[in-house]
Amino acid sequence: MDNRPIGVFDSGLGGLTVVKEIKKKLPGESLIYFGDSGRTPYGTKSKETVIKYSKQDIAFLLSMDVKLIVVACNTVSSVALPEIKDLVQVPVLEVVDPGADAAIKKSRTGRIGIIGTPNTIASSIYSKAIKQRNPEAKIFAKPCPLFVPLVEEGWWDNDIARMIAFEYLKDLLKENIDTLVLGCTHYPLLSDTIRKVVGQEIVLVNSAEEVASALEQMLLNEDLLTDSSSVQYRYYTSDSVDKFKELGSLILEEEVCNVERIDIDKYEFSFYHA
Ligand code: DGL
Repeated sequence: MDNRPIGVFDSGLGGLTVVKEIKKKLPGESLIYFGDSGRTPYGTKSKETVIKYSKQDIAFLLSMDVKLIVVACNTVSSVALPEIKDLVQVPVLEVVDPGADAAIKKSRTGRIGIIGTPNTIASSIYSKAIKQRNPEAKIFAKPCPLFVPLVEEGWWDNDIARMIAFEYLKDLLKENIDTLVLGCTHYPLLSDTIRKVVGQEIVLVNSAEEVASALEQMLLNEDLLTDSSSVQYRYYTSDSVDKFKELGSLILEEEVCNVERIDIDKYEFSFYHA
């Protein structure tokens, strides 16, 4: 048993889609969330920069004495995590494998579309993960760089979001996919817009539920579940607290309080790993 909080981070607000599912699945667990909205997006930055930012995000969470870290960001999971995972002294859960599992479960034809940030798509991490599970699968991938800024701006379902979504998705639609993986934790917030563009038949995969299940399993395996009856949610951002509260409340569908702004540049990864 371990009553310390779980740490969750993302480049911004998108990781709250994962927090929402974790709260449903594990209502007894306390959470500390960091959203790096001041430096978002990660998906178009160089690998070196994403690694540097990810190390600082992890260092911040470790300074808060978390028992486990959920990387609620596909870009970090694809680009940075393979390089730094072994340096972190608490268990780390990423989002790509749960997303690939969900895609395999849901696709009937094996024709699977994947959308994500330019970094995630360039890493081919989803294609590899899906092919490992089903070598016959046909993968069609498309980077959607403007989706993250749309979400951070709160433009989840308007004409501009629909036009951009159509531009990104029209080629995938020609490939007869039956499943579309939302390979970025920001994208579930654009589900209504994406649904309008792709129609009713294509299954949209939001891996957040799968991540919450994988987290429960990891806590069980590592004997880290809490037995405390007090639950606390604390949120941290590197940008405006008011904006985090406003959009965070919409994403979590409840009032988000306990938000603090931090100076993420202060955190040094090397100090926290063994
Ligand atoms: N939510 C991040 C992801 O899952 C967005 C990355 C970004 O900031 O571009 O990839």
